[in-house]
Amino acid sequence: MELKEVLRFADEKVFAETGKHLDDLQEAILKETLQGRKYAAKVAQDRDCSEGYVRVAAAELWKLLSEVLGEEVSKGNVRAILERAKFYNFSPTINSENVTVNNNVNICQEKAISPTPPQNPQQTPTQSHIDLGDAPEIFTFFDRTSELSTLENSIAQQRTRLIALLGISGIGKTTLSLGLINQIKTQFDYVIYRSLRFSPTLEATLTNLLQIFPQPTEAPQNIDTKISQLLSHLRNYRCLIVLDDVQMLFCSGQPPGEYKSDCQDYQLFFKLIAEVSHQSCLMLNSSEKPREFVRLEKAYHPVRSFELGSLGIAAKDILQSEKLSDEETWETLIDIYQGNPLWLELTATLIRELFGGRVAEFLQCEMPILDEGLQSQLSQQFQRLTPPELAVVTHFASLAEPVAVTYFFNKIPLSSLKIINAVRSLRSRFLLDAIEEEKITLFTLNPVLRHYVQSRYVSN
Ligand SMILES: Nc1ncnc2c1ncn2[C@@H]1O[C@H](COP(=O)(O)OP(=O)(O)O)[C@@H](O)[C@H]1O
Ligand SMILES: [Mg+2]
Repeated sequence: MELKEVLRFADEKVFAETGKHLDDLQEAILKETLQGRKYAAKVAQDRDCSEGYVRVAAAELWKLLSEVLGEEVSKGNVRAILERAKFYNFSPTINSENVTVNNNVNICQEKAISPTPPQNPQQTPTQSHIDLGDAPEIFTFFDRTSELSTLENSIAQQRTRLIALLGISGIGKTTLSLGLINQIKTQFDYVIYRSLRFSPTLEATLTNLLQIFPQPTEAPQNIDTKISQLLSHLRNYRCLIVLDDVQMLFCSGQPPGEYKSDCQDYQLFFKLIAEVSHQSCLMLNSSEKPREFVRLEKAYHPVRSFELGSLGIAAKDILQSEKLSDEETWETLIDIYQGNPLWLELTATLIRELFGGRVAEFLQCEMPILDEGLQSQLSQQFQRLTPPELAVVTHFASLAEPVAVTYFFNKIPLSSLKIINAVRSLRSRFLLDAIEEEKITLFTLNPVLRHYVQSRYVSN
């Protein structure tokens, strides 16, 4: 988040609470502190006063901000608190008065207050009930402007009922969906986020979701009644439900999108969400495309899937917040690490620890270098591959140029059909990039994945 934005936000907050803007001295202290600098000597010198005087003013400023923001503010945490407050816009004075939110951790409300059902479901909601469960707290959110507007348009204008937000792990699906929630929460009666990271059964998920809504006199006993109860809420209220980590419903070591035996019911549930008429949206975040999506997207208009790609040039903000230097080389670093925010964060830590944050010096090494955290992150993804996928991906790692699927026929001891399916599966896991040439589609592994596969599966 830009320094100017954070400063403006602090000033607006103080003004809203006290009717007074920050004075020049307070602003100077805040500006220096937000940049991680020792403020006292600099501000005292600039303003021709004593350091002691500045320190007293600073102590008063932290006290004022603590009162305004509702939590203990100090020079060490002021930036994090302001950025978080700005991101979630959680103060009652700035926040839309329509939204019930919890000021604590994220915008979650532990348990929604039971509302009375709206007389007319189409009317503007009088209060949004936001329950983000164990969603991660987001401190910084950079860019993704066009993705946010595409998703908002799809949900708000096109009334898409089922959306898949897809992409390789670390690309920013969770962060984007929480950013989206923050942007459009007031359009909904209910906003719910749940992670399926522990592969809960559909019944467990439904029970969990149903308790957020007004309780019926008789609790539904079986999965059928639970599904129809939820569908009835989705009809009566405008709800946005984000189910994250949907790939955890799928088997490891099987083709992507194959449901685990006790998660099979989700397939029917997702189909019902697409088929049955209602006014809500279910968003699924996954690093594997659910199998039935291709068919659902064709058959039902209110179903869409979006593939999330590189953060692009905005990833510079990540490098900035990681306090790296040599800005002129950042684009090279972003290109090598595919604009993947997680890969860049992990690499930034390595650069800070071993190269004093100097990107130019790091880039002198043979690229790409995969930090241990990044390797273990990739290892989790590659463990999920089937033997044919591994055979194909290992062959890809030895190729410098993109190739067509047919290239592998007779080169790998697998039937053409198995090779085609393996390439398709690798695409569904977002591990292979496709390049459209004039009359042919070529596939390639990006340098990070190629390096990982070579070091893990080819050489020892
Ligand atoms: N737009 C963004 N701005 C700032 N940080 C981001 C952004 N997108 C992702 N990140 C960071 O990258 C990391 C991975 O993001 P995450 O949303 O968990 O990815 P995914 O859900 O696709 O695995 C997190 O640490 C997150 O904070
Ligand atoms: Mg995630």
